[in-house]
Amino acid sequence: MRDRLPLQTERLELRDFREEDVDAVHEWASDPEVVRFMGWGPNTREQTREFLQRKFAERTGEPRRTWGLAVVRRDTGRVIGSVGLRLNEHLQQAALGYCYHQDAWGQGFATEAALEVLRFGFEQLGLHRIHASADARNGASVRVLDKIGMRQEGRLREHVLMRGEWRDSYLYAILQHEWTERREAPGERHD
Ligand SMILES: CC(C)(COP(=O)(O)OP(=O)(O)OC[C@H]1O[C@@H](n2cnc3c(N)ncnc32)[C@H](O)[C@@H]1OP(=O)(O)O)[C@@H](O)C(=O)NCCC(=O)NCCS
Repeated sequence: MRDRLPLQTERLELRDFREEDVDAVHEWASDPEVVRFMGWGPNTREQTREFLQRKFAERTGEPRRTWGLAVVRRDTGRVIGSVGLRLNEHLQQAALGYCYHQDAWGQGFATEAALEVLRFGFEQLGLHRIHASADARNGASVRVLDKIGMRQEGRLREHVLMRGEWRDSYLYAILQHEWTERREAPGERHD
């Protein structure tokens, strides 16, 4: 089956969101530090409920175009973040995004989950290109994009007004053949 969930890595399970995830999601979605570089939030509880409702609706698309997944620690069962792909209408390209609870930062979780989502996108969904953008001030996110083998393609200067400030964003992408080359390169770790 080409799009079977859940996805698993050494430490994480990536699965669809559930109703009972609302408290865990709200912990990070209501944290001003977590959403500092995001185009949404900090959420009210109602906004977090709406976020989950959108996730439930998005998974029913046929073919499915949005894969917004809960990131769950396999050792504790705790939902620590979200990671996802949003495919374009031709199902050949997708945008990668992610967001984690502050408690989970700095332990390699975002990198581990994003690599699995790239694998899923290229090897199971057959995508040609996966791209991402990050606020130029968001050093941790830029580092994650570098670590997972995406290439920086440019910098959009002051292209969006966010919380009263004009934001610069780095654009990143990886192509399917680059993913395959990286997988096959001797000495590379991808899990
Ligand atoms: C960005 C985010 C996903 C990173 O998650 P994470 O689990 O801490 O990421 P990882 O541990 O896999 O890797 C983080 C890397 O960034 C580095 N880093 C952390 N803060 C940094 C900073 N201010 N500048 C540069 N690098 C930084 C870490 O040292 C690590 O690199 P290393 O492995 O070479 O040491 C997380 O901080 C987050 O959820 N932030 C809020 C939401 C967000 O900004 N999402 C991205 C929107 S584009």
